[in-house]
Amino acid sequence: MREEIKRAKYAIDQAVAGKIVCIVSSGDPGVYGMAAAVYEALDQKAVKITIEVIPGIPAMCSCASLLGAPISHDCAIISLSDLLTDKDLIKRRISLAAQGDFVITLYNPKSNKRKEILNDAWKILMQCKSPNTPVGIVRNAYRKNQAIIITTLDNMLNHDTIDMLTTIIVGNSKTFIKNGVMITPRGYL
Ligand SMILES: C[S@@+](CC[C@H](N)C(=O)[O-])C[C@H]1O[C@@H](n2cnc3c(N)ncnc32)[C@H](O)[C@@H]1O
Repeated sequence: MREEIKRAKYAIDQAVAGKIVCIVSSGDPGVYGMAAAVYEALDQKAVKITIEVIPGIPAMCSCASLLGAPISHDCAIISLSDLLTDKDLIKRRISLAAQGDFVITLYNPKSNKRKEILNDAWKILMQCKSPNTPVGIVRNAYRKNQAIIITTLDNMLNHDTIDMLTTIIVGNSKTFIKNGVMITPRGYL
């Protein structure tokens, strides 16, 4: 964390020196991952190297698979980390996505130092969505200590599972819970 550009520059220097270099980035490298950092670092250097971005499975998809089928319709992904993004812009995006009845996937929901924005996000969601909206909370998907919770928006914050290893998926107005899974209908029926 916070060493991304340093890592990218180091990898580029190694590649320029003739090595084949691989940067490991969890999930998909293009989703809040290292891919952009490498391209941005390269943009500042007057060198040419070939970059291949190998796709992975983003947490949104791995977590969705554990919840049922919660993102089978239009979905907005929003990171709650204000390290690189202005807090007001994050809140505006949440509000607009909620007003547009998107399924909303929240990344980086809470850290030890940053707890307030999750509360703010929840208040905005409660203004625009029904309190009964299904919410899926997945911590450590496909890893040791995996935790899966299916709840509703009004109860979303009553779970201490939420931290930086967690992804939250908030349904749209059609999302429902049946037999312990969360389903957002595509509309086929
Ligand atoms: C810097 S982003 C990396 C995203 C990653 N590149 C992807 O494609 O999903 C880190 C955030 O991804 C989510 N995340 C990553 N791995 C996860 C997992 N195994 N289970 C649940 N959420 C995860 C969490 O919201 C975490 O705060």
